[in-house]
Amino acid sequence: MEKEILIIVASVRPVRAGGKVARWVMNQAEGRPADYKYRLVDLREINLPFFDEPGSPRTAETYIHQHTRDWSAIIEPAAGFIFVTPEYNHGYAPALKNAVDFLYREWKGKPAGFVGYGGSGAKDSIRQMREILDRFRMRIAENQSGISKIGEAFDEDGRLNEDLVSGSITALFDELEGMIASTA
Ligand SMILES: Cc1cc2nc3c(=O)[nH]c(=O)nc-3n(C[C@H](O)[C@H](O)[C@H](O)COP(=O)(O)O)c2cc1C
Repeated sequence: MEKEILIIVASVRPVRAGGKVARWVMNQAEGRPADYKYRLVDLREINLPFFDEPGSPRTAETYIHQHTRDWSAIIEPAAGFIFVTPEYNHGYAPALKNAVDFLYREWKGKPAGFVGYGGSGAKDSIRQMREILDRFRMRIAENQSGISKIGEAFDEDGRLNEDLVSGSITALFDELEGMIASTA
């Protein structure tokens, strides 16, 4: 059966680099084995409020808010994730942390990887998110990809200057798909 890998866009700003980065990731995912379906999930469109469930998602049997149920229905069937994330003030993207906090079992134990971007590839942001995802015993790909000097990384036609990319995105896809295959 086809396994779904969600490419989750963490920036929710009206004007942002995250959209271009996510499109680049989607383009790079073209031609991957047919068993894996890559799908874009944009937190700006999901538009969650600040975490507002009364109970802990870890123990809750039901969620009281429809937006939580809708978010759960997106994350629950997914086999793995790639978080496309910026860094703000040496930290994680708040909308991503918030979206993660809403759920528990939907993330638990699943494979995930990161594509970071910013002044120098969002390394602090990713390091912090890796620690947070450890709470869910998620398995995080060692391979991660980063884009530096994000302000000048894309030309007017949206083409990425590959010299500013660190870490192989192909290696990230390979590792993630391998982890999913090993748990199937
Ligand atoms: C409030 C703020 C803080 C930032 N802090 C960092 C930072 O700590 N490290 C970094 O590499 N880039 C930082 N940047 C630059 C962002 O990486 C860059 O603006 C990027 O485009 C943000 O992603 P987005 O446009 O998709 O939201 C910061 C930008 C803003 C607006």
